[in-house]
Amino acid sequence: MSASIHTRPVPHAPATIALHARPRRGPGEPLGGCIAQSTSFTQLAVGDTPEHAYSRVSNPTVSDLEFALGALEGAPPAVCFSSGLAAETALFLSLLSQGDHAVVSAAAYGGTVRLLNRVFARYGVETTFVDATDTSHVRAALSDRTKLVFVETPSNPTLDLVDLAALSQVCKERGVPLAVDNTFLTAAIQRPLDFGADISVYSTTKHIEGHSAAVGGAIVSRDETLLSGLRFVRKATGGIQTPFNAYLTLRGVETLPLRARQHSRGAGAVAAWLAKHPSVALIRYPGLDSHPQRALAIRQHGGFHGGVVSFELRGGLPAAQGLLARLRLVRLAEHVGGAQTLLTHPATMTHADVPAAHRRAVGITDGQLRLSVGLEDPADIIADLGQALACGACEPRASDEGLNSAASGACDGADTAPLGARDGARAGVLAAALAGGAL
Ligand SMILES: Cc1ncc(COP(=O)(O)O)c(C=O)c1O
Repeated sequence: MSASIHTRPVPHAPATIALHARPRRGPGEPLGGCIAQSTSFTQLAVGDTPEHAYSRVSNPTVSDLEFALGALEGAPPAVCFSSGLAAETALFLSLLSQGDHAVVSAAAYGGTVRLLNRVFARYGVETTFVDATDTSHVRAALSDRTKLVFVETPSNPTLDLVDLAALSQVCKERGVPLAVDNTFLTAAIQRPLDFGADISVYSTTKHIEGHSAAVGGAIVSRDETLLSGLRFVRKATGGIQTPFNAYLTLRGVETLPLRARQHSRGAGAVAAWLAKHPSVALIRYPGLDSHPQRALAIRQHGGFHGGVVSFELRGGLPAAQGLLARLRLVRLAEHVGGAQTLLTHPATMTHADVPAAHRRAVGITDGQLRLSVGLEDPADIIADLGQALACGACEPRASDEGLNSAASGACDGADTAPLGARDGARAGVLAAALAGGAL
């Protein structure tokens, strides 16, 4: 399966790129893509090096995905990994050595914080976590040892934004590469490289694959030296994506721009509804005028603001627990970006391994919920949240099990004692979860 992977697509809109940016292999190409499920590829003779020889190093299906992801950002083919964290690991291994320093947005995915604090710290890499919503904090944290600035925007789960144009200017002045975790918006909505960033980082597991079927990661850059360094680390450490996951992810890419718009429209409608609900104490969505960085969101996001909303109920954790138990359509899961709407409890799930003080500093409270708005009709999501919140003051019935039981039937208003007053077991489950580890 030879491919001229250097065939660059003519510039088009993202929806067109997502469908057409593939290596061209001539007549007879399978339009539905091809899964090269093979460890190895035959060679003509000793010393003859085919484009793909061994699938830990490269693979035709993975290359197809890499071509498409690079093209979405006007970049050469991306480098794809087995997960978002494998991508981050390879990036840190490429750019950071013993004694080096990284400046990272404190508001970031919990696994990123854990990777730096509990793995890279052991190898002498120091990290300073800063409030990157203010560029001056990043500038102040830079030192001669700083070899990477890594930020997430919008951040998981607080939806804080980083001014990429301002920050990339600071990084350029200091000669430090800027990497942006763009998982929540994807290139369909925000292209970090266009704002001067050097590297876009993705968990393709989320909106890019989009169907909750394949874990994966990717790094996009226009810097060929950096890309070849990443390919070397991937070869040396073995974190490449599998062909089947690459195939599934590429199917997701085909509809990514379409889904990004629909996720955003749904999230906008649900966020606006939640913002007016009397039980909601706090809501964050970059598409709402109440977002503290709304002007930046308009400047930086391509007209849409993604599918993730975070909110907190007036009743805090007990009310959140009651809501989760009452939902019928929306389910509890550790995920964003899938086709179905999901709720996550960051303090016990995605960010459980982030020290409690760090969580508090970035605004992740024990009562906060993260909603990943799917592709359902937003009216159905709102109706489900509505019926569950109407019971928000009610204690889940004794028959409810776990945090998100299949509770059915409307609240009969009979159980009005605060959550936890009678249900010690449920409170215990959550307390144990708050003390436990994260994925
Ligand atoms: C913003 C962000 N970056 C990176 C990751 C890590 O991705 P993965 O789970 O594919 O390793 C996640 C996972 O939730 C995430 O939300």
